[in-house]
Amino acid sequence: MRIAVLYGGVSGEREVSLSSGKGIMQALKNNGHEVVGIDFHPNKLEEILKLDVDLVFIGLHGKFGEDGRVQGLLEMLGLPYVGSGVLASSLAMDKAKAKQLFELNNLPVAKSKMYRVDDLTDLHAMETEINDLFTMPFVIKPNREGSTLGLTIVEAKEQIIPGIQSATKSDNMVLVEDFIKGREMTVAVLGEEALPIIEIIPKNAYYDYESKYAAGGSEHIVPAQIDKQTTTTIKELAVQAHKVLGCETYSRVDFILTEENQPILLEVNTLPGMTPTSLFPDAAKEVGLSYDSMIESFVIRSMG
Ligand code: DAL
Ligand code: MG
Repeated sequence: MRIAVLYGGVSGEREVSLSSGKGIMQALKNNGHEVVGIDFHPNKLEEILKLDVDLVFIGLHGKFGEDGRVQGLLEMLGLPYVGSGVLASSLAMDKAKAKQLFELNNLPVAKSKMYRVDDLTDLHAMETEINDLFTMPFVIKPNREGSTLGLTIVEAKEQIIPGIQSATKSDNMVLVEDFIKGREMTVAVLGEEALPIIEIIPKNAYYDYESKYAAGGSEHIVPAQIDKQTTTTIKELAVQAHKVLGCETYSRVDFILTEENQPILLEVNTLPGMTPTSLFPDAAKEVGLSYDSMIESFVIRSMG
């Protein structure tokens, strides 16, 4: 098949996508496909408009890649693509909207509040409100971002305004959320099936950008060492979260397992990382799918 791979892009996760894209392109070549690689930029749309391919593999992450906009463009051009459609992609990217849907469907999420911030926002009033509503530590993060970019764990009142400012570098919508103490778990969903759960043990205090992408930044334990009942519950929650948003082909669903053994759903990633340190490929390996066969399984499912 002749397959275009969109990679790079303009989001804060550009570097991650360059790495995911490299892996995806190599795998597609190894699988015998003809690959057309495009470093995606909204100013270079002519390249996309001229594409003559059987399928587009979106190796982008974040804004203009994972948020439904590229998916909409490809739909208008009649080009089949790998992964979730416009609505599911937009919903998953918007953490606050996704959480509303999860709550409506009785999926467990952390308490949160979303704020729109602009030049007229009174940051001191916002600081007071947040300080009253949330108990420290709590999290301030951009509503539509990935890879923990712009995230602050607030442990003192003085961190609130800098935390808001750091989040607004990525997004004018800022999410404030309870910090859930516990073990980091993630579930790769393939089709509508959960692969073995991965527990992430970050080298840093939490699973930040460095722990995610530096070689040896974290340890992945597959399958996670948790009891049978909890394993089943987390896997079921992951598939439900994937379905509630209407995701297709694959996604990765992130959780914290609290000290009381309660899984809390953090978010769904519709274009999870495919880098050498990424999680989805490790879960696939556990069920006997090499990186190349995992990529091929996405391709096959997208042609269906
Ligand atoms: N947002 C990054 C790419 C991930 O979820 O893997
Ligand atoms: Mg994410």
